[in-house]
Order: sequence, then C-alpha cells, then structure tokens
Amino acid sequence: MPELINILVIGDIIGRAGRRALSEHLPRLIDQHRIDFTVANGENLAAGFGLTRKTAEEMFALGIDVLTNGNHCWDKREFLQLIDEDSRFVRPMNFSTQAPGRGWTMRETPAGHRIAVVNLIGQVFMGPWDCPFGAADRALREIPSDVHAILVDMHAEATSEKMGMSWHLDGRASFVYGTHTHVPTCDEIIHPSGTAYQSDIGMTGSYQSIIGMKVEGALARMVSKLPQRFEAVERGATIFATKVGIDPATRRCRRIERIRVDPD
Ligand SMILES: [Fe+2]
Ligand SMILES: [Fe+2]
Repeated sequence: MPELINILVIGDIIGRAGRRALSEHLPRLIDQHRIDFTVANGENLAAGFGLTRKTAEEMFALGIDVLTNGNHCWDKREFLQLIDEDSRFVRPMNFSTQAPGRGWTMRETPAGHRIAVVNLIGQVFMGPWDCPFGAADRALREIPSDVHAILVDMHAEATSEKMGMSWHLDGRASFVYGTHTHVPTCDEIIHPSGTAYQSDIGMTGSYQSIIGMKVEGALARMVSKLPQRFEAVERGATIFATKVGIDPATRRCRRIERIRVDPD
C-alpha cells in the first residue's frame, strides 16, 4: 500500500458547543490519526449563523486548514469582505457570479501534497443556485492537474442529489461528501473508480437539540407555526468526522473511516 495522505473532514460546526468540543479534542485527533490535512464546514460557526473572523481564526488555530460554506455563508456581513482576503475560505462554486470569494481553493500539506477543496450547494429543496453539476465540471477544469487530492463539500438537502454528484465525479474527485443536514449517515463507501462518498458527515454540535438549535424555540415554531427565535445549544457537542486515506499518485481514496467523539 502506498503512503496515503490522511485527511480529516468535519461537517457543520455549530456555534459555541461545536467550537468547544473541537478545542478540547481536535489537536489530539489530528495527532492520534496522523492527519495531514483538515477541512470543516464553517457556515454555523458563529452561534449557528454564519462565521466571523474570530470564530474562524479559532478553528484555524486548532489545525483546520480550510473552511467550506453553505446557505448561511452571508449571515454575518463581515464575511463578505473576509472571504476575499483569505484563501482558506471557500463558498459554493455555484453561487451567483456576483458573490465574493472563490468556489475552490488549494492548500499544501507540510509534506508538500497539494489538496484542492471544492464547495458546491444543492438545488433540491434549497435555493435558485446555478447547476452544481456544471459548476463541479468548471472547478475540475480550473484545478491544476497535478494536485494530489480533490475534496468536494456538496452542501445539500437531498441525499439523491448528493449521491448523483458522487457518481458524476467518480474517478475525478477523491472524496465527495455531504454537509447541511446536520445528521451523520453511515453510508460511507468507495466507488469503483476510486471516489469516496458519504451522504452527510454530520454536525459537530449538541444532539440534545433540533439540528443544533435549542429544542424550545425550534419545536415551538413547528407546533405553533409562529415566528420563534432560534438559539444554538452552547454545550455538550458530539464530534462527527470522517477520515479518508488518499493515494497521492492516483488521487484515489483507499480507506474511509467515521470518527465519533461524544461529550464527557
Ligand atoms: Fe449547517
Ligand atoms: Fe446549510
């Protein structure tokens, strides 16, 4: 077996609970699993809604290399400017052409492996975005052909659309994974042409909640159909992450493993 690049993928990090859990455990996980590169979805970092310089810097300091995004991308206005200043941030490639920032980025591991990270957003039950399949093709045309791994965060509601994307990119990307539903799925698999797939990584947030939000407000909205305030749960997060081993010579995924760390 060739020497693999070990990549840790973390899904949506929800507010303070998610950030706290990662500050307690992420440096150890990176060490213990001999991780070379870490990517996470940052759309819910700041109390569940968007991300700020402070919350993103906190995550970079813990060892996260790239933060992807989603429908909460612009919840904090400061991010409109921040994303243009720092290539560790990506937002969905199929956002409007008017949107600031970039749809893919490339970073190098300490061993010199170049990792490309693409971010896409789904159309099913979501927004009127451009076609994510065409956007994925565009990203892959733009990414230099000598990168050692290509990760694709497909931020989407419908598992069918995420699975479709994984087959669309089979043999072209190393790992296509879902974020956004905040619920982990146990369907991790490696397709015939070497692309790994998982429908959702799952949130790093409190599961004593409704997708990371306090039950009270979220449930009251469902029951009463009246507007309610959504507040992120602040403690007790479970970390869900997925580790993939990528062969840098072929960009194929050779190993995939889910990791779970429950609160103490
Ligand atoms: Fe999210
Ligand atoms: Fe989302």
